[in-house]
Amino acid sequence: MKNSRIDQCYNIEELHQLARRRLPSPFYYYLEGGSDDEYSKKNNIDAFDRYELIPRCLNDVSNVDTSTTALGINIELPVIIAPTGFSRMFHYQGEEAVARAAAKAGTIYSLSSAGSSTIENIASTTSGPKMFQLYMLNDREKSLGLINRARDAGYDTMCVAADLPILGNREDLLRVGLPPATKLTFSSLLSIVAHPKWFIRYIMDPPNPMANFFEGKIKHEDMGKFMPDSTFSWNDLGEIKKRWQGKFAVKGLMSVADAKMAVDAGADYIILSNHGGRQLDGVPSTIDMITEFVDAVGDKAEIIVDSGFRRGTHVLKALALGASACMIGRPYLYGLAAGGEAGVDRVLQMFREEIERGMMLLGISKLSQLDRSFIRKRD
Ligand SMILES: Cc1cc2nc3c(=O)[nH]c(=O)nc-3n(C[C@H](O)[C@H](O)[C@H](O)COP(=O)(O)O)c2cc1C
Repeated sequence: MKNSRIDQCYNIEELHQLARRRLPSPFYYYLEGGSDDEYSKKNNIDAFDRYELIPRCLNDVSNVDTSTTALGINIELPVIIAPTGFSRMFHYQGEEAVARAAAKAGTIYSLSSAGSSTIENIASTTSGPKMFQLYMLNDREKSLGLINRARDAGYDTMCVAADLPILGNREDLLRVGLPPATKLTFSSLLSIVAHPKWFIRYIMDPPNPMANFFEGKIKHEDMGKFMPDSTFSWNDLGEIKKRWQGKFAVKGLMSVADAKMAVDAGADYIILSNHGGRQLDGVPSTIDMITEFVDAVGDKAEIIVDSGFRRGTHVLKALALGASACMIGRPYLYGLAAGGEAGVDRVLQMFREEIERGMMLLGISKLSQLDRSFIRKRD
């Protein structure tokens, strides 16, 4: 469907601003917030400027090909949809719209355990490539049961989130009254009423923010009962691997020592991620960690990276440093909030066009030509 406001956005930041206007403030803050002082959230993006691309000239670039292989799947774009919780908070079309957009763009959709759509719904929505992301919550049996459901529903791969023994300190959530707070504040309620389009859709079909754990309606104050299992450890990966019976990724690693532990535990893919600066604040940017990861375990596991990717050139920088693909979180949620499925299409189109143009300007026609000779870190 034509959506001129979306078509008039020419970069991710412009879609971000549109999303901000279209969302009631509590849900905008849930989407956007980082932890503590948001050093890591900001640094994720700023860090890309510390790397400069070195283009090669006078190569025939009349045909550029953005396809690659990541997570064992052939994809048409090196940009994967990262798992994010509660997408229907941002737009009534929710996870299904994002999964359809990903399939159209020829890339992988990742469903979070905390999705507002079920594992089975997404499987029946699209035959495109899919990853299921596991959170180990305090109801361990139910959490482990999600692995069997994802396997039975035909998901291509699975990732285990390793970075959430407790929720990061997101003060915005407390300020607006979202869980762990038990009640929306008065100004949050006012903001919801001031967004009638969002509000009407919401009351017509209220989303279940924990659709995979709980059927039917869940009360706001009961949301806090779904807590991460902080006893979850490396010892549990054996059981997960046994249930999944396929290749899997560990997501949320920032330390090379942990990347080695993940490989020893049988992980085939490592997702280098600081959760978009939403967990521990004060960690390095992920772009700064790629070469260490690739040099330490790159011969044993593929390195996928996320956190802060907003431009096609950001993706090209990560690939030049040795990552096999990138994942995006907030960017596609901006698109979703700004215009549902059409907004997510627009985000993926922006990344595709920016990557294609970047490749031509770098003088390459295939992503496999990228290596460290195309990049340098500023002093
Ligand atoms: C609103 C929101 C919800 C998220 N929910 C999850 C989740 O349920 N599971 C997960 O593994 N990561 C989750 N993440 C982290 C993303 O998977 C990804 O690591 C992060 O968004 C990447 O950073 P970026 O937003 O700067 O692209 C979430 C991120 C956001 C912004």
